[in-house]
Amino acid sequence: MNNKYVIRGGHGLYGELEISGAKNAAVAIIPAALLVRGSCRIENIPQISDVTMLLSILRQMGAKIQMVNRHTMDIDCSGIHTTCANFELMRRIRASYYLIGALLGRFGEAEVSMPGGCDFGGVRPIDQHVKGFTAMGADVGVKNGLVCAQAAGGRLTGANIYLDVVSVGATINLMLAAVLAKGTTVIENAAREPHIVDVANFLNSMGADVRGAGTGVIKIHGVDKLSGGCYSIIPDQIEAGTYLAAVAGAGGEVLVKNVIPKHLDCITRKLTEMGVYTSAVSGDCVLIRSTGALRRASIKTQPYPGFPTDMQPQLAAILTTAAGTSVITEGVWDNRYKYVDELTKMGAKIQVDGRVAIIEGVPYLTGAPIKACDLRAGAALVIAGVCARGITEVSGVRYIERGYENIVGKLRTLGADILSVASGEEEADDAEAI
Ligand code: EPU
Repeated sequence: MNNKYVIRGGHGLYGELEISGAKNAAVAIIPAALLVRGSCRIENIPQISDVTMLLSILRQMGAKIQMVNRHTMDIDCSGIHTTCANFELMRRIRASYYLIGALLGRFGEAEVSMPGGCDFGGVRPIDQHVKGFTAMGADVGVKNGLVCAQAAGGRLTGANIYLDVVSVGATINLMLAAVLAKGTTVIENAAREPHIVDVANFLNSMGADVRGAGTGVIKIHGVDKLSGGCYSIIPDQIEAGTYLAAVAGAGGEVLVKNVIPKHLDCITRKLTEMGVYTSAVSGDCVLIRSTGALRRASIKTQPYPGFPTDMQPQLAAILTTAAGTSVITEGVWDNRYKYVDELTKMGAKIQVDGRVAIIEGVPYLTGAPIKACDLRAGAALVIAGVCARGITEVSGVRYIERGYENIVGKLRTLGADILSVASGEEEADDAEAI
C-alpha cells in the first residue's frame, strides 16, 4: 500500500533516540556474505526495504537466511547455486552492484543487471568498478542491460588499481573482488568513508587480509577461503545526522544514542557554526540542544572526512529559515537539488545554478503537499515538515523507507506530530534505487 506522511509542524523535539545500523554498510556486508563458506551472524542490521530486497536476492540464489531477532541474522551462502542474480529485484537497488564483486571473487563469474540509481544528474557510471575488475583479469561486458563478468582461468588475480575518482562503490566492490583473488591487490585513491572500514572489518573477521581501509591506499592479500563468524554493523552516520538536523531546525534537546561521535564530527561542526550546541556523551551518544534559531552557513560536500553529500538536502532544509544567505556547493553529484521545488512550495527561497544553491533565509516555512524524489530528499522534506507552521503531507515515502528504519515512530517518540496514512494514490513501481 502507498502511504504518505502527514506532519503537523512546529513542535520542538525532546527525549532520546536510538540510531540503527548503517544502511550503506549493510547493503555491502550482506552481499559480502556471498564470499563466505559458512554461516555469518550479522548484528545491527537496519530494518529497511533495501536490506529486505538484498536478502530476497540472496535467498533466490540459494542462501540460507535465518532471523535471530529484529536486527540480527544468520546468513549462510555455502549452498549458492547460481552466479546469475534476479534481474527484476536487482534493477531496483543501486547497491546490487556489490553482487558483481562478490560473485566474481567467489566463483570467477557474475551476471547481474546494470544497477539503478537516484537521478543525480545523468548516468551513475560504474566505469571505475569495471576498470578494477579488468585489471584483475576479468572480461567485463554489458549487453541487454546485463553486466557479464568472467575471470580468466576462473579466478581473479591481484592488481594495482588507481581510481580516477574517489568512489565509495568502486572501493568496496574491488575489495570484495580482491579478498579471494590470487596475490595482492592495491587500491589507490580509495574512498575513506566509515562504511568502507566497516566492510573491511567484516571481511577480516571472516578471515580476509585487508589493510589500510579508512586511508587512501588499501592493500588486500588474497586468501583461499573465508569462513563464518559474527559481526556487528556500525551505527548509521547519515541517519544520526538526519535527526541532528531535525532537532537543530525544530529546536529542542535530544540524546542521540548508538552513534560513533567521531563519524559525526563533519556534521556537528557545521551545526555548531549555525548556533547549535552538540556534545559527545559517554562514548556512543551525542547530545544536541537547539533554540531553532539558526545562523547561515556555507557547505561544500566532499568525500569523507568532508561534509557528506548524503546530508546536503537535510541541511538545506533547515538553512531555509536560518538568518542570512547560505551557500551550498555539491561536490559529489552533478544534480542533487531535485527537492528544491518542493521546499519552494513551503515558502523557501532557493536559487540553484549548476552545483551551487543559494538559500536566502525566510522567517518560517508553511506546510504544503510535497513529494519525495529520492531517499535523502525525502528525509529533507520530512524535516521541513517537522519545522514548518501548519500541515505538510509528504508523498513518495517508499524512497524514505528504503533507508530509514521506522522514521515516523522515531520522530513521534521525540514529540513530533507525524503519522503515516494510506495515500490512496498509485505510485509507479519504477526502477529508481539508492
Ligand atoms: N563515479 C564515477 N565512476 C564510477 C563510480 C562513481 O565517475 O565508476 C562518480 C559518480 O558519478 C559520483 C562520484 O564518483 O560523481 C562518487 O560516486 P560513488 O561511487 O562514491 O557513489 P556510490 O557508491 O554510487 C555511495 C552511496 C551514496 C552516496 C555516495 C557518495 C551506497 C549504496 N550509496 O554511492 O548514498 O551518495 O556513495 O558518498 O553506498 C544515499 O545513501 O542516499 C546515497 C545516495
